[in-house]
Amino acid sequence: MSSKLLFIHFLVTYMVLNEFFLMSISYTTNTYCPSGYPEEGVAIEKENIDKMQFAVNLEFLEAEYFLWASYGFGLDVVAPNLPMSGPPPIGARKANLDQLTNNIIKEFANQEVGHLRSLNSTVGVFPRPLLDLSAKNFAKIFDDAFGHKLVPPFDPYRDSLSYMLSCYVIPYVGLVGYVGTNPNINGYETKRLLAGLLGVESGQDAVIRMYLYERATELVSPYQYTVADFTSRISGLRNKLGNCGIKDEGIYIQ
Ligand SMILES: *[C@@H]1O[C@H](CO)[C@@H](O)[C@H](O)[C@H]1NC(C)=O
Repeated sequence: MSSKLLFIHFLVTYMVLNEFFLMSISYTTNTYCPSGYPEEGVAIEKENIDKMQFAVNLEFLEAEYFLWASYGFGLDVVAPNLPMSGPPPIGARKANLDQLTNNIIKEFANQEVGHLRSLNSTVGVFPRPLLDLSAKNFAKIFDDAFGHKLVPPFDPYRDSLSYMLSCYVIPYVGLVGYVGTNPNINGYETKRLLAGLLGVESGQDAVIRMYLYERATELVSPYQYTVADFTSRISGLRNKLGNCGIKDEGIYIQ
């Protein structure tokens, strides 16, 4: 081994050991970490609880949709106490995803389980509502977006691109919801929770948009429409539902 390589080897070993050392220190001193909360003020205002719980519906939907598509099972397996005996979703299933897409969706799924746990430990959750995650429900949304029936019907579980297109709608709804909730809440714990949820939803939205940007001119099999066509149709629908001006643009801003 040359001396340069030896040095690098030494450096890496040193850094790794150091990391372990620091980690074990930080574990043992964890109890001294400050909470980061102010000394005065209210943690959670009672009037804010239902405003935050509104998000629970969406978080259940995201958790189940991402878990099923990537792992092939849902909350009843991953965190059986969270649904509180609410009915299992209808029509959810493993999507036909390539490895990269599957890994992205697994990460999203785990983030959503974390969101539900955070909501549970702060404002509390309610039993999982009945969710219809069947392909035909998504097909209806895409037919509405295009203003005519797609043939064959859109199926989000068909392949990676179809699945990512179906996700294009989802974290964004959370993002808009949380931005709308933000001016109406007080309480430092609630505010931290909301900022945490909002940040991660935005990150997911960015990953999905990036994925679709990279494929903007690809045709979405088996249709004669490109990815860009799909996103602008979906954004058109979201604006119609959102009311009051442009809240959303496709991946190509017109
Ligand atoms: C939800 O929160 C309650 C109260 O903090 C706790 O007892 C329960 O274990 C939590 N459930 C899950 C699944 O984390």
